[in-house]
Amino acid sequence: MGERIFCKINNVDYDVVVNHNETLLHLLRNKLGLTGTNEGCGSGDCGACTVIVNGKAVNSCLYLAVDIDGKEVLTIEGLADGEKLHPLQEAFIEEGAVQCGFCTPGVLMSAKALLDEKSHPSEEEIRKGIAGHLCRCTGYIKIVKGISSAAEKIK
Ligand code: FES
Ligand code: FES
Repeated sequence: MGERIFCKINNVDYDVVVNHNETLLHLLRNKLGLTGTNEGCGSGDCGACTVIVNGKAVNSCLYLAVDIDGKEVLTIEGLADGEKLHPLQEAFIEEGAVQCGFCTPGVLMSAKALLDEKSHPSEEEIRKGIAGHLCRCTGYIKIVKGISSAAEKIK
C-alpha cells in the first residue's frame, strides 16, 4: 500500500506514490534517479545522505519519504545554478576539500543550510555544522577552509 505525495525537489514539482516505510534516500536514489545523494551507513551516523528539507539539513536515510508531502527538498543536483557552480562547490575545488568525494554531496548540503542560516559562521560554528559528517580523506581542515572561503565569496 502506497501513499500519494506532492512535493518540490530542486524546484521541480513531483507527484509520487511512496511506501509508508520508504526513506527519502530510497525515493531520491531508486525512484527519482537523483543518485548524487550517497548512502553510507544507512543509520544516521555518517552524513553522506544529507539533503535539505524546508531549509534544514536532514539525514535522508532516517527521513520518511511520506514526510516530505507538501515540502521543498534540495539535493546536490539542485545546488549549482545550471552550468554555474555554487560558491561552495567552487571553494571546495579551490581548497582541495574534495578527495574521494563520497562525503562531499552531504557535506555541501549541510554547509549550504549553515550559510543560509548564518552568512559568516566562525570556525567553531562551521565545525559544529559539519559535526554529523564522516570524511575518511580530508582531515576536515580543507572542508572547514572551503566553507569559510565560500562565505567570503557569497559576501
Ligand atoms: S547514510 Fe544516512 S547518515 Fe549515513
Ligand atoms: S573526501 Fe573522501 S570521504 Fe570525504
